[in-house]
Amino acid sequence: MGIFDSGIGGLHVLAACRRLLPGCLFLYYGDNARAPYGSRTAEEISRFTREGLTLLEGWGADAAVLACNTATAVCAEEMRRAFSFPVLGVEPAVRPAARVCRDVLVLATPRTAESRRLAALTARFPQCRFRIAPLPSFAAAIERCLTRGEGLTLSDHLPALRPDGVVLGCTHYAFFHRDIAAFYRCPVFDGAQGTARRLVTVLAERVSQGKIGTDDHFCTPINPNNCLTFGYKKRGDAGVIFLGDGKFYNKLVYSTNICFSSE
Ligand code: DGL
Repeated sequence: MGIFDSGIGGLHVLAACRRLLPGCLFLYYGDNARAPYGSRTAEEISRFTREGLTLLEGWGADAAVLACNTATAVCAEEMRRAFSFPVLGVEPAVRPAARVCRDVLVLATPRTAESRRLAALTARFPQCRFRIAPLPSFAAAIERCLTRGEGLTLSDHLPALRPDGVVLGCTHYAFFHRDIAAFYRCPVFDGAQGTARRLVTVLAERVSQGKIGTDDHFCTPINPNNCLTFGYKKRGDAGVIFLGDGKFYNKLVYSTNICFSSE
């Protein structure tokens, strides 16, 4: 299974997927050499995403998860047309928030915040007021904080509002789920669990259609030697994680153990 993000944000989605599919081999591609994506042009985001999925396809992934709200908002449909394996996206957890909240703040990258996809999603819950906050530098600050140990002050990035619920519209933000909940003193929602459940459903469908065998527990057989040229890191025999082409980041991500911290 392939998981893609601009950087480390999708590791949180990876952890959720691994909990539901513990026998599955996951390949993670984080394009942290070119992160953040959130303020890039749609053309760049599509091109980088296509390159990432092409790598995952070449490594033999049976399906790919765009563990990136920005890539999902900009080019999920285009990627579904371009690749023969299923391409799943991540959706901001607007639905669960709308079930229990009435004044919801959606935190997102600029590209996601302005997307038609998010506008269409929030429009389905007219009983709620949604305020959508584009955060131009929060994802990059999180990436730097977790990979290089730089300090991060939430009030430098988050709007001073008093919502009764917050939706995390960027996978990077999930690493600060608890801090954001404490900052706003209200429930915070993220979409990682929903994405993991959807992946299980999609894989079960593929198995029932005979497109994936059951004998390998949804595992994608890969030869780790093929990944050597890409500077991969292997953790036990559970999977292969490859974070962009910055070896510096690879090392730090492993030493801080972010990738499986929520297990
Ligand atoms: N983690 C990504 C998202 O969910 C992208 C953040 C970025 O690269 O700006 O939107």
